[in-house]
Amino acid sequence: MKQVVEELARRRANARLGGGEKRIDAQHKRGKLTARERIELLLDDKSFEEYGMYVEHRCTDFGMAETKIPGDGVITGWGTINGRTVYIFAKDFTVFGGSLSEAHAQKIMKIQDMALRSRAPVIGLFDAGGARIQEGVAALGGYGEVFLRNVISSGVIPQISVIMGPCAGGDVYSPAMTDFIFMVKDTSYMFVTGPDVVKTVTNEEVTAEELGGASIHTTRSSIADHAYDNDVECLLQMRRLMDFLPSNNQSGVPVVPTEDRFDRSEPSLDTLIPDNPNKPYDIKELILKVADEGDFFEIQQAYARNIVTGFGRIEGHTVGFVANQPMVLAGVLDSDASRKAARFVRFCDCFNIPIITFVDVPGFLPGTAQEYGGLIKHGAKLLFAFAEATVPKVTLITRKAYGGAYDVMSSKHIRGDVNYAWPTAEIAVMGPKGAAEILYRSELGNPEKLAARVKEYQDRFANPFVAAERGYIDEVIMPRNTRTRIARALNMLRSKTVESPWKKHDNIPL
Ligand code: HXC
Repeated sequence: MKQVVEELARRRANARLGGGEKRIDAQHKRGKLTARERIELLLDDKSFEEYGMYVEHRCTDFGMAETKIPGDGVITGWGTINGRTVYIFAKDFTVFGGSLSEAHAQKIMKIQDMALRSRAPVIGLFDAGGARIQEGVAALGGYGEVFLRNVISSGVIPQISVIMGPCAGGDVYSPAMTDFIFMVKDTSYMFVTGPDVVKTVTNEEVTAEELGGASIHTTRSSIADHAYDNDVECLLQMRRLMDFLPSNNQSGVPVVPTEDRFDRSEPSLDTLIPDNPNKPYDIKELILKVADEGDFFEIQQAYARNIVTGFGRIEGHTVGFVANQPMVLAGVLDSDASRKAARFVRFCDCFNIPIITFVDVPGFLPGTAQEYGGLIKHGAKLLFAFAEATVPKVTLITRKAYGGAYDVMSSKHIRGDVNYAWPTAEIAVMGPKGAAEILYRSELGNPEKLAARVKEYQDRFANPFVAAERGYIDEVIMPRNTRTRIARALNMLRSKTVESPWKKHDNIPL
């Protein structure tokens, strides 16, 4: 008996060494943790159950028969985060650069299947060079199976990808099909093909950072939802994120006990809107003052900053916030902001997370750059996403709600459940100046007359009451009572049900 126990201990110790001390040291020298260290930080203490520790690849080409490492470059299993089950796979860069073989793929597939069966989230920690080159089509087939499972699980269980090293090929395509992607600054990269291949094919010289660093993917491509300074911060933030997310599309949102009273009044909100309608203010102040304990997990903070998206809680229940940001481009809706918010709204709807929308939008951004870039289709994504969403939707217009953007931003007309306005709201086809200049073009040369026309339009539409008279706004509320009114609305909507006509799926303008 003693012998077999010793043999087990020996095998475990050997597997835990992965690619060996030298490669582990190299990993640390690059400022990265090993796959096992990452899992330990991410999961609750001693909660990790590892499966597939002794799996080895079956490749014999290119001398591979002599180089087998137990685990084969990916560590898989499940554990808990603050007591809730999550499935996990972590690529081990010290073993064949974390690259994916047929056997390695089977380990990931097993975890994906188990997660789907038990309706629990999957978190993938990526630090890997894609399909294992020595295995050829067997590795490609493996990736295909992983991709398929990403798609089948989409909208059923949350799938989170964390990019923690250089990632290429399938190790960026699988994350691209998950719900959220997070990166680590300076040590993680994402590209379909790395700088060497780029040089060979296009003769373009580019560094890994320029091609696919965290700053590119969080500010320009919008592939990544946020980037953190190092592995430790990133993993601790993933624990925080998981506390906001439901386990699956039927579990309901997690409820975190809070001391923050639902009827907390915020008198400072009465003066949030500046007297001058063209002066900006920070919409995040409103979000932080409405959410439980000011706790807000922002998604895509660095991209399309003219719209803010993220998770918070009201009375302990997770909600999604979508808010125009007057501080950036006056909160205008452009293609990037529309795509960003549409994806967020759809995530919330998949997983039954109520959506709170704060509206201060001067319209869609005009111009050739936007039109050539497909503003019509991108704007339609957000309109489509809000309209199809059947979760509880509470909307508040704080100031401007002009033109088509008024309709788009979770208005009553597209199934907003409770639509509030502050007394400072202005709901109109466009701003008073623009409206007067179009309606009274012949008076453009007469500034005094035009000013009177602007005032006339302003008096008529620069308020919430024309919309409220028609029932498009349910109530004009005092800013200080915003949290209370939203909390009460969400409570009232807890058992909301919507019957939709049968369809296979919709055809959102992609
Ligand atoms: C086998 C690989 C590998 C791979 C890296 N390694 N990628 N082994 N297959 N795909 C090995 C290296 O040989 C090396 O082994 C170790 O991992 C570390 O790699 P380095 O190159 O030394 O590290 P670094 O300089 O940090 O560069 C990392 C990298 C680069 C950017 C990921 O290795 C790279 O570009 N790899 C190839 C990427 C790629 O083109 N993959 C195929 C994509 S196709 P030793 O023994 O020296 O430690 C694909 C298809 C999926 O994925 C379908 C998509 C739709």
